[in-house]
Amino acid sequence: MRKKIIAGNWKMNKLPNEAIEFIEEITPLVKDTKNEVILCVPYTDLFYSLLTAQNTNIKIGAQNMHFEEKGAYTGEVSPQMLKSIGVEYVIIGHSERRQYFNETDDTVNKKIKAALEIKLKPIVCVGETLEQRESGKAEEIITNQIEKAVKDIPEKEIQNIIIAYEPIWAIGTGKTATNEDANNAIKAIRNKICQIYGQNVSESIIIQYGGSVKSTNCKELFTMSDIDGGLVGGASLDPHEFAKIVNYDK
Ligand code: 13P
Repeated sequence: MRKKIIAGNWKMNKLPNEAIEFIEEITPLVKDTKNEVILCVPYTDLFYSLLTAQNTNIKIGAQNMHFEEKGAYTGEVSPQMLKSIGVEYVIIGHSERRQYFNETDDTVNKKIKAALEIKLKPIVCVGETLEQRESGKAEEIITNQIEKAVKDIPEKEIQNIIIAYEPIWAIGTGKTATNEDANNAIKAIRNKICQIYGQNVSESIIIQYGGSVKSTNCKELFTMSDIDGGLVGGASLDPHEFAKIVNYDK
C-alpha cells in the first residue's frame, strides 16, 4: 500500500519568525499522523525551519534549485547547498516556475537528475492549462511532461521521486478538479510510468494532487484510488487548516 504524503508549498510567503511560529504551532497537531508531512519553504526560512522541526515528524523541502553543483550563476542555489543544511525534498518544475521563470521540460529533467544524484527527493510538478484541458489535450500534455521529466533516469532511482499533478487552472483559483478528473489524470500518469518502468514502479510511485486543496475537499480527493496525498498552496499557510488536511483520515 502506498503511503499518503501531504506537502505544503508556502511559495513566496512567511518570514523566518513566522516559519518558526508556524512549525511550533503545528507540531503537536500532526505528531500522531501516519501520513508524511512536508513543508516546502522559501530559501530564507530553510535553516530556521530545519532547526525548529528537529525531533518532529515534519520534513522540510525547498521550492526550487539549480542543476549545477556550483559556479557563476548569480542568485541561484545548488542541490549541494540544500543537502548540506539537511533539506530532504525539493519541488521541481512547479507551473509558476515554468510560467514566470523559463523552467522547461529540459531543465526539469536536469534538475531531477541532479537532485537524485545527491539523494534529495524531488517533488516533480506537471499539469495542463485551461485551454489545453478544454481542447481535450490534458492527458497528452501531462504524459508528455512526465516522459520528458524522467528521460534517462534509471529505474532504481525513479522510486525516489514524488509526482504532483497540478492542473494550472486549479491553482489558487478555488476551482478544484473533480475527484474523478483528478484521479483519471493521475491514472494516466501512472500508465505512462508503467510503459516506461513497468508495473511494480507504477504501482509504488507516489502521485499527489495539487490545486485549491482545502480541509473541506481533501478527504474526498485523498481517498480516491490513485491519489496519494496533496501538494497544498494557500491552505498550507495556516497551521490549523494545514493540520486538518494532514489529519484528513482521523
Ligand atoms: P493552491 O493550493 O493555493 O491552489 O496552490 C497549489 C499549488 O500550486 C501547490 O504547489
